[in-house]
Amino acid sequence: MEAHEPVLLKDFIKLVTPITGCWVDCTFGAGGYSRALLQNGASQVLAIDKDSETKVFLKSIQNEYGNLIKFYNQSFADMETNDDITNRDDIDGIVLDLGVSSMHLDNPSRGFSFRKNGPLDMRMGNQPGPTASEIVNLCSEATLADLIFFYGQERKARKIANRIVEERKKKEINTTFELAEIIRAIVPKNFKKDPSTRTFQAIRIAVNNELKDLSKALIFAEKKVRRGGTIAVITFHSLEDKIVKDFGKTMSGKASSINRYRPLVSKNYPSLIPVNKKPVVAAIDELDRNKRARSAKLRVYKKVSDNPSRILANIEFPEVELGI
Ligand SMILES: C[S@@+](CC[C@H](N)C(=O)[O-])C[C@H]1O[C@@H](n2cnc3c(N)ncnc32)[C@H](O)[C@@H]1O
Repeated sequence: MEAHEPVLLKDFIKLVTPITGCWVDCTFGAGGYSRALLQNGASQVLAIDKDSETKVFLKSIQNEYGNLIKFYNQSFADMETNDDITNRDDIDGIVLDLGVSSMHLDNPSRGFSFRKNGPLDMRMGNQPGPTASEIVNLCSEATLADLIFFYGQERKARKIANRIVEERKKKEINTTFELAEIIRAIVPKNFKKDPSTRTFQAIRIAVNNELKDLSKALIFAEKKVRRGGTIAVITFHSLEDKIVKDFGKTMSGKASSINRYRPLVSKNYPSLIPVNKKPVVAAIDELDRNKRARSAKLRVYKKVSDNPSRILANIEFPEVELGI
């Protein structure tokens, strides 16, 4: 299995240096971020990934750093159930490098890629939830349309949903190529992106509950990281980035409206402050080397207070009930 090339890693290290103490790497993948944290001063890395296949990359880091790295096969949305994390009050940093890895995209049997034919699966871990095929074959037309529109930001969502429902009446849609063909008949070709990109993203987000998991992880991270500690997030599409940006605004006392999801965080007593005013994007040399870096954005926050009034109940994002 070829290892994933980490995105924005140098920028991340630069922004969070000096690196000390214990870090939680919520998205271990091929271990690029975990290794770099240890190389640059972290005394311990607690690494999480919901995909058990990522464990193959653990061995070489353990050979070098022994038990300074620990691995947990779980979702980062459930960090609060991990005693090794919750029992500590000295977490210096938490990093999330979101989305799929190239191990997911390169392996047709995982069903993530419209470029390689495989079963429509798209589950990142061995979670019980629905597969992509179950969503495509069982969700109502209205749900499919909402899902493709909100999670894929695809303007032709209604037409695609309608065509999926027409096609599945004839025959179940079970492979990535079958789904991609249906979409390509509706969405015009574009020299930059395959017509299926947005719909595949939408279904993947639904299969893996990605937006909810991200919002849960951010709320936990803000409570858990020590004062002076760091939260860093690398996002790969605008829905993720908006969640992180809104969260950062709220916790730094800059959110404009207050509602039940956004308790008052005074700008005089912010809980977090942004380290970089604008998100970091990949430089040209990284873009040349690594296509995945195209849409990546890095936001870093420092925790500056433990003010109890900061507690955030929820983060708003579009949620589509699958109804299956
Ligand atoms: C972009 S890759 C991370 C790459 C990694 N930073 C590296 O340097 O190799 C994202 C990883 O996060 C994992 N992941 C995504 N959502 C997750 C979640 N909710 N909980 C735990 N792991 C998750 C995926 O399985 C994938 O391995």
